[in-house]
Amino acid sequence: MLKLFALVLLLSGVALAADHYDGYKIYDINTRNAFEKQLLLRLSSNEEYDFFDLPRSLDAPSRVMVKPGDQEGFEHLLAKYNVDFSVLSEDLGVSLRQEREDNQNQRLMNLRSAGRSISFTAFHRHAEINAYLDELAAAYPSRVSVQVAGKSYEKRDIKTITITNGDGKTGKNVIFLDAGIHAREWIAHAGALYVIHQLAENYAANANLLKNFDWVILPVVNPDGYEYTHTSTRMWRKTRKPITSACYGTDANRNFDFHWGEVGASSYSCSDTFKGETAFSEPETQLLRDLLLGLSGRGKFYLTLHSYGNYLLYPWGYTSALPSSWRDIDEVAQAGAAAIKSATGTKYTVGSSTNVLYAAAGGSDDYAFGVAKFPVSITMELPAGGTGFNPSTSQIQSFVAETWVGIKAMAQKVTEKY
Ligand code: ARG
Ligand code: ZN
Repeated sequence: MLKLFALVLLLSGVALAADHYDGYKIYDINTRNAFEKQLLLRLSSNEEYDFFDLPRSLDAPSRVMVKPGDQEGFEHLLAKYNVDFSVLSEDLGVSLRQEREDNQNQRLMNLRSAGRSISFTAFHRHAEINAYLDELAAAYPSRVSVQVAGKSYEKRDIKTITITNGDGKTGKNVIFLDAGIHAREWIAHAGALYVIHQLAENYAANANLLKNFDWVILPVVNPDGYEYTHTSTRMWRKTRKPITSACYGTDANRNFDFHWGEVGASSYSCSDTFKGETAFSEPETQLLRDLLLGLSGRGKFYLTLHSYGNYLLYPWGYTSALPSSWRDIDEVAQAGAAAIKSATGTKYTVGSSTNVLYAAAGGSDDYAFGVAKFPVSITMELPAGGTGFNPSTSQIQSFVAETWVGIKAMAQKVTEKY
């Protein structure tokens, strides 16, 4: 009987590790001077603390997740140096458990409504996302096709969807969009799905974006990590290939072979920003590399969706220097930020990764720009929900609709310029 119960739980996707975050706290820390920032920077190199946003030069508060056993020491240290902090979540486990149940209900509700395999009222599983892509290819065969680009480390199919206007012309310029390099950033996956939905199912309204450009979209770069955040560890960021017996996964956005490992990446396999044993050590980054290189020349706009923080970031991520053509990229990003600002009032910060966020080498954006020669390459950090990575299901629709406003404006600018 108990066994059966466990089996039913397992099959229904309710992971037994749902209590993984019981007692975890989330702190917001306000550093007020250089000394406190230094202290925070030192703390962030401790792998036991999960800094949701790394301490940066700006004065925004830093958010960090700390497990029960480390909280006393952590708070003691902050108190000792008189650092100002507040507790954003007293027990992350409680809210994550409720959210998991809500998401499960919303997913099942969508399943019963028997339309598409996905909706924008739930965060969907990788299999549902792949099924949706196939549904679109079947529904719109003249405009939409699906490719299996390769497999993840755990052998999941990684699919791209190509959306055209169906005029049969080949060799058009391409806008390449991806999401889900980082597993826990669920709103990014949803954002990519909304773009797919708009271009494929609301074609008439968006035909101008498909006239001289084809779109290639990879909605889940890191499906192993993504599934792991659904079944076990909600705040997982990396891929899932084991490195040592204790430590799994590589930060895919530190694994690209362009100034690889020079800055802002860890050599320690347990770290959340582990750069990998070699550049392109992961099947997922190899696959993305090959797609980008395959589009070299045609590829004009590389856009990669992440969360969170409301940023439109462009090269470089490995140095504070700007590429000579930075104004061209800035113009596109500013168009996105302005469109969002006037639609909803939401503010995005625009600038180079290093200058507005932090230096981190080995990112897909630097690679697309520096090696695959996409003239416009942008990382879009969507807004925070919940404590950052976990917007509620009821927030999805408005978040992705707002994101689409920005993406449309950026794509429009690109089609005018290239
Ligand atoms: N939050 C993203 C990350 O840490 C930002 C990436 C920006 N790009 C870069 N090449 N550093 O991966
Ligand atoms: Zn990310």
